[in-house]
Amino acid sequence: DRSLKIAPSILSADFANFGAEIRAVEAEGADWIHVDVMDGHFVPNLTFGPPMCAAIRPHIKTVMDVHLMIAPVDPYIDAFAAAGADILTAHLEAGPHVHRTLQAIRGAGCKAGLALNPGTGIGDIEHLLDMVDLICVMTVNPGFGGQKFIHSQIEKVRRLRQMIGDRPIHIEIDGGITPETAPLMTQAGADVLVAGSAVFKGGSVSNPAPYGDNIRAI
Ligand code: DX5
Ligand code: ZN
Repeated sequence: DRSLKIAPSILSADFANFGAEIRAVEAEGADWIHVDVMDGHFVPNLTFGPPMCAAIRPHIKTVMDVHLMIAPVDPYIDAFAAAGADILTAHLEAGPHVHRTLQAIRGAGCKAGLALNPGTGIGDIEHLLDMVDLICVMTVNPGFGGQKFIHSQIEKVRRLRQMIGDRPIHIEIDGGITPETAPLMTQAGADVLVAGSAVFKGGSVSNPAPYGDNIRAI
């Protein structure tokens, strides 16, 4: 399904109220829930691990889209799968054996995603296309919400969509998505847009209406 999907990142939600925040954005039209896992090593920030994912899983009615910004990644795949991830996305830059990582993700029963940092080209993934269900193009350097969109990634996405051809692979964009940058990416061939600050700004669990306005504006 190549229709546009909006995936709010709970990195920009109220950390003391994840359950209520997830129910609120889903009620306001979120298609997937994006969960940013950071290890303070692969990226210079720390978030949460499998127990938190398992705790929020019952609150997600749509799709739990888990973005692993961790290295090494292989030792944790089974734990995130057991926590209920539908999609597990690992970074190409996280280790030398990405082929094995993708095999392990599918072997654990999840859809396999592969994320690329802004400085990473698409040439190295040509031989992995039959092993991925999603390619996440980072349009900021991973680690933090609320950063500025990197425009050089537009051409990368256009070329990636060409390379993918008619294979059933989602192109997800992560970082700096706003009502201004979103159409640039959908025109280039993306079908999933992650948005953190642009979705959660101006609202709260007690006043979730702005979330819906923000989602529709993207
Ligand atoms: C960045 C994360 C993103 C982030 C996006 O490392 O992977 O998912 O939350 O946040 P915004 O939409 O605010 O750029
Ligand atoms: Zn992310």
